[in-house]
Amino acid sequence: MKRNGIIALVAGVAVAILAGIWISNLVISAVETRDGQAAGGARVGGPFTLVNEQGESVTEADFRGRYMLIYFGFTFCPDVCPTELQVMASAIETLGPEAEKITPVFITIDPERDTPEVMARYVALFHPRLTGLTGTPEQIAAAAKAWHVFYRKAEDENSSEDYTMDHSSIVFLMGPEGEYLKLFGPGTGPDKMAEGIAEFL
Ligand code: NI
Repeated sequence: MKRNGIIALVAGVAVAILAGIWISNLVISAVETRDGQAAGGARVGGPFTLVNEQGESVTEADFRGRYMLIYFGFTFCPDVCPTELQVMASAIETLGPEAEKITPVFITIDPERDTPEVMARYVALFHPRLTGLTGTPEQIAAAAKAWHVFYRKAEDENSSEDYTMDHSSIVFLMGPEGEYLKLFGPGTGPDKMAEGIAEFL
């Protein structure tokens, strides 16, 4: 029994390390995207058509004039997504009245399970202004591609759910014209995020 426990622990640590490497690679590719934008004009973000918590179709035009703080994830995510959404909410609270120009947005990369109803209940847990967007698999794929966000379905033997989602964990700040301003990688704390946002407000 004890031996099995140790083997399970070692296996768990190996998986965690591999996942860490995978995520850092995603962050690096996202940072390269940012440099690419500066150098060659590669675009982060763009037009999208998605579905809000009321089941209504929304596009980038609905957010014109507002800053967007965007995160892609999924509601079944055990820790990364809730942590990141909490950081976004805290950063916005830290900024006070200035932050009223910002709409935090959570876009699911698991539209199969994240229906508008599920999204409505979930986003309410984090911030009153947090907007949850879902859509058809094609709409989600197009939005993720525009922001260079990677995701894929993965089997999850340790969960009662059939599958989990691997995904990059990056927060994007977009300006009032929908223009890309800045990204925040994993591990950015709320104060650091608030500082980064404040530069642009
Ligand atoms: Ni997640």
